[in-house]
Amino acid sequence: MADIKNRLEIYEQQFFQELEAVEDASMLEELRIKHLSRQGALSELMATLKELPLEEKKVAGPLMNQLKEKAQEAFKRRETQLETEKIEAEQLKSTHFDVSAYSTPKMQGSLHPYTHVIQTVEDILMSMGFEIAEGPEVEDEYYNFEALNIPADHPARDMQDTFWLTLPGLLMRTHTSSVEIHTMLKKKPPIAIAVLGRAYRNEATDASHDFMFMQLEGLLVDKNISLANLFATMKTFLQTFFEQKDLQIRLRPSYFPFVEPGVEIDMSCPFCTTGCSTCKKTRWIEICGAGLVHPNVLKACVLDADTYSGFAFGFGLTRLVMLKYGITDIRLLHSNKIEFLQQF
Ligand code: PHE
Repeated sequence: MADIKNRLEIYEQQFFQELEAVEDASMLEELRIKHLSRQGALSELMATLKELPLEEKKVAGPLMNQLKEKAQEAFKRRETQLETEKIEAEQLKSTHFDVSAYSTPKMQGSLHPYTHVIQTVEDILMSMGFEIAEGPEVEDEYYNFEALNIPADHPARDMQDTFWLTLPGLLMRTHTSSVEIHTMLKKKPPIAIAVLGRAYRNEATDASHDFMFMQLEGLLVDKNISLANLFATMKTFLQTFFEQKDLQIRLRPSYFPFVEPGVEIDMSCPFCTTGCSTCKKTRWIEICGAGLVHPNVLKACVLDADTYSGFAFGFGLTRLVMLKYGITDIRLLHSNKIEFLQQF
């Protein structure tokens, strides 16, 4: 008899110790399975009742039932207590929530390399007397080709792979030279404009070509404009842009239907004195196309070609950005890669 009472006491002690140690719902569930489930320790203990002699059963039976009730009640209490504690903790969290305690790392925005260069170029050219002009990117073939002395059957149209729209006669402008036409049709000379805008070419993408890129176009029309004016303007612009007073330029004959004569402008390499990978060890970098505005272009814009003359130039603005920052893959500029953009 003493033996069974003893066992019940030991069990009770152990159960309450374990219950005391329970800290959360999952520990409580473990305890329930271990002690209070069908195959649990308490059921096992109660099953031993059968083996006891009748006299002992009479005493031990009610004791066991009491223990079971006590254990179940205590379990319920602990369960309720844990739930209340949890709710209180959550309430405390929301009433004493310190907004300054957790702050995500600060992400400082920065200007895109294009923006830096656009601002610099605009500053330089505006200080030289150029106005900034704009034109549509979806263009009529008249402004993109025809008025620029590139008639429909002219082989020069092959030089620029064009994105045509399904609407007849409309295209994504292949160069910003179309803005020259819009401007000359609207204004009388003296005209001095710079266009910084997108151009589109239907060509395969690689490290130095993209189907969309930016150009910098310049146009100056007045009386007595010559190649000397073009030369001086380009030299001053490039010296200022690359921050190099002794930067030299040279003109080589070239062909663009909308200028006559047409030239290609090279600049002395701003990055080396003895030849580097950027200038391909030649000390010269081909930088833009230019020339004197073709009389046919002036005529298309109802300007008297005997009175007026002008020069035009066209840079890859994208190329200027790449040169300025040493970017070797054009696709990075259009990629929105955060690791790339954070450097500027
Ligand atoms: N529009 C020419 C091009 O895209 C560049 C250019 C502009 C050449 C003005 C001469 C004069 O290649």
